[in-house]
Amino acid sequence: MAQEKQITPWEVQGELTDTDYQKVAREFGAKIIDPELTEMIRSAAGEVHPYITNGTFFAHRDLDMLLSDYRSGKRFYLYTGRGPSGKMHLGHLIPFIFTKWLQDRFGADLLIQITDDEKFLFRDLEMEDIRKYTEENILDILSLGFRPENTHIIVDSEQAGILYNQAIRVARHINVSLARDVFGFSDSDNVGKFFFTSMQAVPAFLIPALTGRDERCLIPYAIDQDPHFLVARDVLPKIGYRKPSSIISKFMPALKGSGKMSSSDPNSGIYLDDDPKTVRKKMMKYAFSGGRATAEEQRKFGAVPEIDFAYNIYKLLEPDQGKVRKVYEEYRRGALLSGEMKQIATDKINEFLEELRARREEVRSEVDAYRFSIDKVMR
Ligand code: TYM
Repeated sequence: MAQEKQITPWEVQGELTDTDYQKVAREFGAKIIDPELTEMIRSAAGEVHPYITNGTFFAHRDLDMLLSDYRSGKRFYLYTGRGPSGKMHLGHLIPFIFTKWLQDRFGADLLIQITDDEKFLFRDLEMEDIRKYTEENILDILSLGFRPENTHIIVDSEQAGILYNQAIRVARHINVSLARDVFGFSDSDNVGKFFFTSMQAVPAFLIPALTGRDERCLIPYAIDQDPHFLVARDVLPKIGYRKPSSIISKFMPALKGSGKMSSSDPNSGIYLDDDPKTVRKKMMKYAFSGGRATAEEQRKFGAVPEIDFAYNIYKLLEPDQGKVRKVYEEYRRGALLSGEMKQIATDKINEFLEELRARREEVRSEVDAYRFSIDKVMR
């Protein structure tokens, strides 16, 4: 029997193929990004990010409406987030890399929600540890180079007053059976879990709620977060706000090709604090290869780059699409061997992480400039 593919914000079970992604998106009622929408993005942004052309961001909700409004002069803002449950891996950065591009192209305000409350309720972690991850993760995110003047980091426990007063407005419209259906909760789950999605909904209407400005909200995230925004889209019109738009990405596969990247297994993914030697070792030893068993077979039949971890990560980190196409072609026809592909990807990862680490130190003393405050969003 085929394995059940399940997606909730806490679980992505089974390896998802392109067809699975399309099916999941359709089941959740999201639309696939088609060539027409891609052209709309190009004309509004002046270019299209490779994550759209290479299918990493593959689905959306109401992005077309948001872009038509933008064309007629209406502003929108961006919202994304992170649950600080441990160290960040490269997969966690994908939505943030893309969000930075959106911020740069559209000059939009950006809310970044850090859901420390979520991790306290859903994981067996103490607040003391979550606070440490919060600080570290914020530095990781900021090292991508967001603009301080229009980036607003909201840590749930620190802005509890503002968020709670909005979250109760959402919670009044979510009954237990809906939360159970959408998130798969049972009677043995703690009551905080049932409430939590109301907190994650708040930044999707916080700018209009606080400033009175009628701005749409665009939320980039990977598909695991979609259930939250399904609920938010249902509730927000009932309390006087627009449905948020979203742009949805696939999951970066785990290093070993199956399973999840998880901090409980350090060899399941590449972490942002992995040093060059560790990255090299992990890539050579564990990275799932789409190449053939022997060099001879590889030269003769070529690889399947689509399932190859090294190729996939290279594709996400190399901005020069000409180079990516060349590597793809050579690997596919067997001119590149699996070990060579791993070497190319290793160099790219190390170069990327090196730059992040340098910028991380620069932003360390500037974090306060990025923190959310009502005064700052009113400007
Ligand atoms: P979190 O911390 O689990 O993940 C942060 C962001 O990374 C995405 N993601 C991935 N993307 C690509 N490949 C992967 N392997 C991968 N793993 C995770 C997630 O979809 C997410 O976008 N509850 C959220 C925090 C949050 C949030 C938001 C996220 C609050 N508000 C609004 C997105 C949008 C969480 O725990 O994410």
